[in-house]
Amino acid sequence: FGDPVLRGKNIVVSAGPTYEDIDPVRFIGNRSSGRMGFAVAEAAAQAGAHVTLVAGPVSLPTPAGIVRRIDVRSAAQMHAAVTEAAGGADIYIGSAAVGDYRPNSVAAHKLKKHDGADLTLQLAENPDILASLSAQKAHPFLVGFAAETQNVEIYARDKLQRKGLDMIAANQVGEGLGFETADNAITLYWADGSLALPRTDKAALARQLIECIASRYKAVRG
Ligand code: PMT
Repeated sequence: FGDPVLRGKNIVVSAGPTYEDIDPVRFIGNRSSGRMGFAVAEAAAQAGAHVTLVAGPVSLPTPAGIVRRIDVRSAAQMHAAVTEAAGGADIYIGSAAVGDYRPNSVAAHKLKKHDGADLTLQLAENPDILASLSAQKAHPFLVGFAAETQNVEIYARDKLQRKGLDMIAANQVGEGLGFETADNAITLYWADGSLALPRTDKAALARQLIECIASRYKAVRG
């Protein structure tokens, strides 16, 4: 469907959460189901692109037409997989909810309780996948997402600029939108424009997102 500009292009899509292990039985994760990212990957394939899907721990079947799927668990693994897959790619779409922090160390054995004492976890910041791609001299057209519960436009525009992105999809989360839901609504921002995509199911929304990416890609790189 849509603009032929994406036919044969290499597109990498990340989806789902990351899990940061605390010990062999516990982790820090988030509520991303992967549904939005998988819908974006499927829409990109429907537009004729060669799609690599880098998926965090989700229980979703691979959408039709995906050329390659790489399953990862942690943000560090997602960073390595995306960096490898995005080398030479035309477009990277970061739909994944990447954990910002990981425990400083992973306990070799299950942590035990200690008579009511508090437990403190030391967290280290994870590398930012989008920012590290954008720091490379030759990099793909970069699309990020920003999941926010408040001040959505302000935070999204800040991420667009700070991470050096070509476009960002601002995602107000909560009230049946965003994480885990069937429907979503996003507003796209780029340097000198924006487009609101109202609430609909994630498959339809993903196709509209891909159409807008095609037209911006053509304007900037075409
Ligand atoms: O999976 P679903 O249940 O369908 O939910 C969809 C979604 C709400 C997860 C999705 O639409 C969405 O908004 N994804 C981004 C979620 C997010 O946590 O964004 P963020 O504001 O933390 O990160 C901003 C951008 O930077 C994202 O593109 C993210 O992939 C990227 N990032 C973040 C941290 C990091 N270390 N590296 C990154 O590249």
